Amino acid sequence: MNNSNEPTVIQHPVVARDLTILRDSGTKTADFRMAMARIARILAYFALKDLPLSEKEIQTPITTAKGYEIDKRIIVVPILRAGLSLVDAIIDFVPDAKVGHLGMYRDETTHEPVDYYSNLPHGLDEAMVLLVDPMLATGGSAKDAIEFLQKKGAKNIRFISLISAPEGLERISKNFPDVQIITAAVDEKLNSNAYIVPGLGDAGDRYFGTES
Ligand code: PRP
Ligand code: URA
Repeated sequence: MNNSNEPTVIQHPVVARDLTILRDSGTKTADFRMAMARIARILAYFALKDLPLSEKEIQTPITTAKGYEIDKRIIVVPILRAGLSLVDAIIDFVPDAKVGHLGMYRDETTHEPVDYYSNLPHGLDEAMVLLVDPMLATGGSAKDAIEFLQKKGAKNIRFISLISAPEGLERISKNFPDVQIITAAVDEKLNSNAYIVPGLGDAGDRYFGTES
């Protein structure tokens, strides 16, 4: 894991192929979901790369051997709705991870986040908190979410996104130098509607099949 405030940008042939599927406006919901699920696993792999371990002795059928357990409480927090698309990948690797939820949507005119729901597990202060949302655009939603988590006691926060805009990355890294960002792509810019260019459109609508 990158120790500086630079984002970790994943380079992987499967990610390049699946980002293409996700960006393509002709991709149907089922293929979109499958591509998202594959990339989410790769993002989760990198986000969890330096998890602390504790040692334990186990008995194999042949002899005793040194084994390992994950020595950290993991809390995954998706920003609703689109963040839900990244949760299962983390739970696949850490089946006992707790899951908190933050409900936010962007106001279509102001592009500012509007909070509508929160439900967080106990133990935020001791945990590695993985805040997940596929799109980091202006960074308004991520900033609000991080501030909320910090107010609730979270000290060790990682932000996982699929596609990031330079504007959002700069906002988060300036405001939260301790928050590591793991992303699969840094795109060109935001357009006048604060959508990421080239991006993939509205991630929540495309993942849940609600686009009009
Ligand atoms: C999207 C996305 C982020 C936010 C990013 O959510 O999933 O939460 O926008 O934009 P920002 O960086 O400018 O804040 P959206 O408001 O579309 O809600 P949804 O997930 O319910 O579709
Ligand atoms: N939210 C999205 O879903 N897509 C964008 O490009 C920006 C915000």
